[in-house]
Amino acid sequence: MDFVSFPILTQKVFGKRLVYLDNAATTQKPQVVLDAMKNFYETSNANIHRGIHTLAERATLAYEDARETVARFIGATADEVIFTSGTTQSLNMLVRMLGKNLHAGDEIVLTMMEHHSNLIPWRELAREKGLVVKFIPLTVGYTLNLGKARELITTRTKIVAFTHVSNSLGTINPVVELVDLAHARGALVVIDAAQSVGHLLVNVERLDCDFLVFSGHKMCGPTGIGVLYGKKKWLQELEPVFFGGGMVGDVSSGPERAVWLASSQRFEAGTPNIAGAVGLAKAITFLEERGIRQIEAHCVMLVEYAVSKLREISRVKIIGPNEGSLGIVSFTLDNIHPHDVAEILNKEGIAVRAGRHCTMPLMKELNLENGTTRASFYLYNTKEDVDLLVAGVRKVLEVFR
Ligand code: ALA
Repeated sequence: MDFVSFPILTQKVFGKRLVYLDNAATTQKPQVVLDAMKNFYETSNANIHRGIHTLAERATLAYEDARETVARFIGATADEVIFTSGTTQSLNMLVRMLGKNLHAGDEIVLTMMEHHSNLIPWRELAREKGLVVKFIPLTVGYTLNLGKARELITTRTKIVAFTHVSNSLGTINPVVELVDLAHARGALVVIDAAQSVGHLLVNVERLDCDFLVFSGHKMCGPTGIGVLYGKKKWLQELEPVFFGGGMVGDVSSGPERAVWLASSQRFEAGTPNIAGAVGLAKAITFLEERGIRQIEAHCVMLVEYAVSKLREISRVKIIGPNEGSLGIVSFTLDNIHPHDVAEILNKEGIAVRAGRHCTMPLMKELNLENGTTRASFYLYNTKEDVDLLVAGVRKVLEVFR
């Protein structure tokens, strides 16, 4: 679709054209994003919100412009957007902030398909505070069991936190139903949108979620930059958990508490990833120019094509929903270890992820102790990439006849 914009994709691996199918782990960066970051460092680099000089003003403007771009992209206002280093930091920070208002016996509802980032921080908090963590199970079709969700989400539930799109299965979860269920019981909703923002239209106002987190690097942006969105009314109430420069209005050497800045800057202690924010904003405009709906349709088409081709091979088992997988095809090949599969595919120039995909509880639940092989697509992938993957899979099966 957009091959020429991505210089890294023009290289060869083991003499073969690189077929990059590990986009759920991280996406490649278009030239315009690389140029925007280089240009920032070459022309505008300075610390933000601190200096009264030309470069400082330029850098501050670039950073705050990036915040505006992110806000517009997800349907938020700029003061609802906190820059972090990525989804993991967003979630760890949010869990600690929300945790201050949780008490022993309070319940948190997660799903069985959570990434470790949306699991371990809650579990650690629960251990410290005596909270109860419950898990919405899956149906046999690898979707969420909404009937069980209705039983598990009660008036004791304080938080419902779930992934929008499963990084292991590609399942798109029913956000609206879950948000309605949670809000009807008075619980707050946290959405891990690491696999959905930049892949389908995400509008926080329409979703009516309380918090939403994502990373820049899974949507053509750089690593080390991510977002924590929070509804303004909640952010106004929350206390920061990271402290340092750039987040206080007043502080003295006495024992009294410092006064935090009123804006979302009070959650961004220290020097942030300014060039990363610039790169993320450029990635957003790059994706918007191509059209998020078109990108979604393209990835859905590639998944459908891949699934139909892989299903022709009897030793392949697809681990994911029959329909509605967003850009991800997970599969097993008899009981060949996924690492062996990935290694042989790599010799063919094909990059996939193999293993448990940071979702160990899910893999245990599915009796897949070694995990799966996962091919994940993005806008630059083609049907020819899928054909090469399928040919590679046939080669693996030859080796392990
Ligand atoms: N969460 C990323 C993945 O699924 C790293 O590969």
